[in-house]
Formats: sequence, structure tokens, C-alpha cells
Amino acid sequence: MTLLIKNANEVITLKSALQGPRIKEQMREIAVVEKGSVLVAGSQVVAVGAYEQLVIDFPHLVEEAEVIDASGKIVMPGLVDCHTHLVHGGTREQEFNMRLNGSTYMDIMNAGGGIHATTKRTRETSFEALYEKTMHHLDVFLKHGVTTVEAKSGYGLDWETEKKQLEVAKKLQDTHVVDVISTFMGAHAVPRDFKGREDEFVDVIINDMLPKVSALELAEFNDVFCEKGVFTPAQSRRILEAGKALGLTPKIHADEIEPYNGAELAADVGAISAEHLLVASDEGIQNMAEAGTIAVLLPGTAFFLRAPFARGRLMIDEGVPVAISTDFNPGSSPTMSLPFIMNLACMHMGLTLEEVITATTINAAHALNRGHQIGTLEAGKQADVIILDVANYKQLQYFYGMNHTDTVIKKGQVVVR
Ligand code: NIG
Ligand code: FE
Repeated sequence: MTLLIKNANEVITLKSALQGPRIKEQMREIAVVEKGSVLVAGSQVVAVGAYEQLVIDFPHLVEEAEVIDASGKIVMPGLVDCHTHLVHGGTREQEFNMRLNGSTYMDIMNAGGGIHATTKRTRETSFEALYEKTMHHLDVFLKHGVTTVEAKSGYGLDWETEKKQLEVAKKLQDTHVVDVISTFMGAHAVPRDFKGREDEFVDVIINDMLPKVSALELAEFNDVFCEKGVFTPAQSRRILEAGKALGLTPKIHADEIEPYNGAELAADVGAISAEHLLVASDEGIQNMAEAGTIAVLLPGTAFFLRAPFARGRLMIDEGVPVAISTDFNPGSSPTMSLPFIMNLACMHMGLTLEEVITATTINAAHALNRGHQIGTLEAGKQADVIILDVANYKQLQYFYGMNHTDTVIKKGQVVVR
């Protein structure tokens, strides 16, 4: 099947190489083709350019193509949400209300709420019910232009439930049009019954869970909540090194609530990304720049917890590649709107309009080890394409708080229109 998206006001193509010393310049080079068309064959992008040129270069493909008129609109790669806690039981609006009345996130967690509350609900929810609930969430992501989503486990904290979460994600990857990429996060919290025996739980993760995740091929990445009162940097390092030895790429929830040398650790263990980084140190940021660690920043979490925003502007200026994501989860960021999160990144982290596009497409793809496959509109890349009902890309953040998604094409198929 061939598809021609014709005459868009702007086609934002972006470029694949987005790491290295020129990161600041590269994040602004989004490569806009004015009055552009995109030719797609099967699941791949064939070419981007002026319609007249595509007719000359690919006469047969253009002739047989189904045409989508994009005049007056813009076209860009499908959004990539590279940090979510997608699969979980229940909701926690009552905790939101407690926080509005003065409780803190960590108070609630230490009293058995927070991650523990969702763990209880996730353990109680059947595979089928979790699958149905998560399917609905993916539909909402898709309507907001998101074509790839990362999914972390970590609301089981026992093997049975961690496996259930990862298997739900795997089944969704097979059945839903959105691509779901899994991260094992058994080290999301210390289960209540291991209180005072934290190192024993770390041993369970290392000796029992990680080998099973790897043998069953249930995840590509291994993540740890390195935070005061959760996992120490030393425990986090052990878990990440153990995963690495089994072929799982490290990621870290780093420096989210209190500074804890999480960014430094991420650079040191060769994590593909350090995530959150609300209170990352200057030195940690420098180390990340040198190591090429991607900063996955989650402005929705700072917004919803009323915490300071990560220093995104500084990170980019210092040469750290930045990706932006929702952190969708029932406690600290219950939103599936990546477009809203993009606006927060501009307003509260100081990203420019071009940088935030890079951060939610190619840089987010790199954070999932998919930079070669998605995140730009280049010949040979997977045809994950969105059409947005705005006249130019600057209007995306200017008309804020709205969903501009008009049409979504996933692997060459129109899936939202
Ligand atoms: O990314 N920091 C830890 N994990 C999540 C929150 C999980 C929850 O509150 O359920 C986060 O913010
Ligand atoms: Fe998170």
C-alpha cells in the first residue's frame, strides 16, 4: 500500500544523528520542508519533498498512492513517549487531594500509599483487566499523536506481578498499533514486607527476577528508583550492573526528589538515560554530557508534585541530549497528553519550540535505542507520521493545552483520522 501526504504547510523531517558535541545546535535543526509532501510505501518512508519532485522521482508510486491532503496543516514524525509506568492497577486521586491539603509525596509513600498502594491494586487486578485498562490508555496516547510508548514494570515488586505487567505490555505490543517497549523496574520500591531487609530484596531482584526477565525476553531495559529511602546509589549500581551482564540496558530514576548522585551514577555505569533529574547536581550534568547519557526529563511530574523543574535549558547548553516524556503513572503524573507536557517543557524548563520537537521524537527514540528506526521522516525509516491541524510548528505550543492531532499513520497505515 502506498500513501502520499500532500502539500503540507510544513513537513518537519528532523535528522538521525543527535548526539555529540553539537547537541545544542542539532536540537534546533529540525529541518522544515515548506509545502512538502511525504511518500510512504508499505511501512516505510520513501521520500520527503515537493510534490512536483516526487512525481518525477517516483512516478509509479505517486500514481498508485492513496492521497491525504495536508494543506493548511503540518506533518512530523509520530511522538515517542520514552518514559511511562503504563501498566498499573487503579488510580490515586485521593492522594492528589491529600497533597493539595499539605501531605508530601514521600509522606504518603512511607505511610503505605504511593507506589505501595498501586502495587496492591496491580497485584489484585487480573491479567485480562490490566490488559483492557492499558489498551484504553494506549488509545488515548495514540489520539495525542504518540506512536511509540515505553512501559516500565515496578508495581508488582514480586515476580508473579512483575511478570504479569511485562506480559501485558508484550501482548499489547502484539495487538495494539502503538509500539510498546518494555523496561523492567522491579527496583521501583522496597516491598513493605522487606522493610529493614532492603539488601535482601536487592538480592531477589539480582538473583531471581533479572535472570527470568532476560531468559523470557520480557524487557530491553532495566531501571532503578535511586532515591533516599528507596534504593541507595550502591544498591542501584549492583542492580544495574547485574542487568547489564544479562543484556539489559540500564536506565535510572535519578535525583528526582533529593540530590543523590543519580546523574553521576548514570554516567558512570553507562546508562542509556538518566530520568527525572529535578535536582541533579552541576557535576552530574557535566558527567552526563561527557558520557553522552540522555536526560529524559518529565515536566509533568514537577508540575503535578509542585516540585522544581529539572534544569533542561542548562543541560542542553552543557551538551546533554534531552528527551521529554509524560512519566504517565497514577501517582506523580497521571496524564497521557505528551503535547501538554511539551508545553510545560517550553514554559518551565526553557526549551525552545524546535528543541521540544527534537526531544519528543528523535531524542526520545534514541533513549529507547530506536534512533535508527523511528523519530525522523527520512527515507527508509518506519512510517510513523502525524498530521497536526496547525499552520506552522510554532503554533503547536502557542495554541496551548489543546490536542492538535488530526491524522496518525503508524507503519504506513492510517490509524487515526
Ligand atoms: O516516575 N519515581 C518513581 N516512580 C514514579 C512514580 C510512581 C508512583 O507514584 O506511582 C515516577 O515519578
Ligand atoms: Fe517514572
